Amino acid sequence: MKITSPIVSRRSLLRGSAAAAATSLAHAGRASAQDATAESAFEARIDLRLNVNGHQHALTVEPRVTLLDALRERMQLTGTKKGCNRGECGACTVLMDGRRVNSCLVLAASADGREITTIEGLADGDTPHPVQRAFAEADAFQCGFCTSGQIMSAVACIEEGHTGSPKEIREWMSGNLCRCSAYPQITAAVAAAAEELG
Ligand code: FES
Ligand code: FES
Repeated sequence: MKITSPIVSRRSLLRGSAAAAATSLAHAGRASAQDATAESAFEARIDLRLNVNGHQHALTVEPRVTLLDALRERMQLTGTKKGCNRGECGACTVLMDGRRVNSCLVLAASADGREITTIEGLADGDTPHPVQRAFAEADAFQCGFCTSGQIMSAVACIEEGHTGSPKEIREWMSGNLCRCSAYPQITAAVAAAAEELG
């Protein structure tokens, strides 16, 4: 089969080259403007005051820092665990104004001025919170990686009144995964703590 090729005049070739050069310069200009914007976004810092477990913490962080990273890496509150880091496992559960949140999905900036409670803030001195005690008594963990998230979630679950039956507890605790599959003991611990807390 004969392959035909278009005949290109020298003039049209030069015109085409000039247009291509102009386009690539425009692209380069846009790219460097975008690079500069991205660079300044990375350099940006914001000042925050986080109220965690009743203590005020003044922090300067990049706007993209999550509440989870601020807790673990800036305040050394490592009881809150990082599992999936994308809202799927519940290991990072903390309370924000009394409601449970996945701290890996909350920007530290949006927690500014809110009341944050982590696992470190539950006990009363040396006396564990009733939910902590119930987890220990029911043996509601194996490796323990999910446990602080489970306990924080259980505190809110009880407060919300979603503990009418084991089925209801399982449903309202379903955002907290346990790879060791300690679910029967976790459900029993939540039920026992709910009964104690009335
Ligand atoms: S670490 Fe936040 S949900 Fe898994
Ligand atoms: S106790 Fe191991 S993941 Fe839950």
